Amino acid sequence: MNSNAFCVPLAFAHDVQAGKLSTVWLQDTPLILTRSQGRVVAYEDFCPHRGVPLSLGKLVDAQTIECPYHGWRFNLANGQNTLVPVKNASMPCALKPISLRETHDLVWFLPDVQAVLPSLHTEKPTLFKTGLIQAKMVNVAENFLEGSHTHFVHQGYIRRQTPKRQAISAKLQPKEDGFEVYYQPEPPKGLLTQFLPKRFRTLRPVASYHHPHLTTLAYYDTAGHCLARFEGLLKPEKAHTRFFARIFLDLGHLTPFVSRLAAHFFGKVIQQDQNILEVQTRNLRHFPKPTFVSDETDVVGQELYAWMHDPTKIKTAPFHFEVFW
Ligand code: FES
Ligand SMILES: [Fe+2]
Repeated sequence: MNSNAFCVPLAFAHDVQAGKLSTVWLQDTPLILTRSQGRVVAYEDFCPHRGVPLSLGKLVDAQTIECPYHGWRFNLANGQNTLVPVKNASMPCALKPISLRETHDLVWFLPDVQAVLPSLHTEKPTLFKTGLIQAKMVNVAENFLEGSHTHFVHQGYIRRQTPKRQAISAKLQPKEDGFEVYYQPEPPKGLLTQFLPKRFRTLRPVASYHHPHLTTLAYYDTAGHCLARFEGLLKPEKAHTRFFARIFLDLGHLTPFVSRLAAHFFGKVIQQDQNILEVQTRNLRHFPKPTFVSDETDVVGQELYAWMHDPTKIKTAPFHFEVFW
């Protein structure tokens, strides 16, 4: 495992605009984020005078934020105080800056100069989605990577409940920074694949986790060409989980057509996952010391738990298992 600190995704870069203030969270700390002179800048959401959140203040212009309490003003390019109204002058103080990096369509917190970025796809995503789910990160990651809920939560969308399920063999391969799961190719069972030409219909899914933030799901055709890749970057935000999904579709000339359908499709699927995860979170509050029953078909969830909470249990050898989908 890499011992360097990791960059933390804070926002999609296209959502950070000059003249617009966003509030984002770095663990339990609120930050204000904006663009100043083309550069992304972030500061703790804390007025140095008496600690009121600056996000409740107003932008006097694209460069200047004014605190809602006593009206102190700060230059967003460098955080410096520019005016204390009651003094009719400035004070030698500044907002606390946050180190950032902008790359792969995202703004990242940079804990130090050597901080590691996850290995993300370099191409332009077809679709972006972001949101906040009231659930722990390990539960969100399991939901994203494992398929046994899809027949129920996404009935008809991804897989259907059929009287006869089919055995699919799978292999979990440990990696330096996580794991990959290779599944045997599967014929179509969901809404989206039904509209596609035959050659796109038998797909081989590969799921992966790269510690600590990145989950991916890729679908390959029988020739080994990646038709769809989903990157879900996850970040704990107070007791919740923020996700940034980058979706890549490559179905040749069908891509523009499919991406319009896909935007609706993924919006719906993510909503379905969010609903069940939040129901789970609420119920777990009634059972503060739960014990869970798992077997080898839950290996993805167990492995995610090991990486996030109990590294002594991380698998070091390939693991073969079978699921009925
Ligand atoms: S608390 Fe911000 S100006 Fe006083
Ligand atoms: Fe799901």
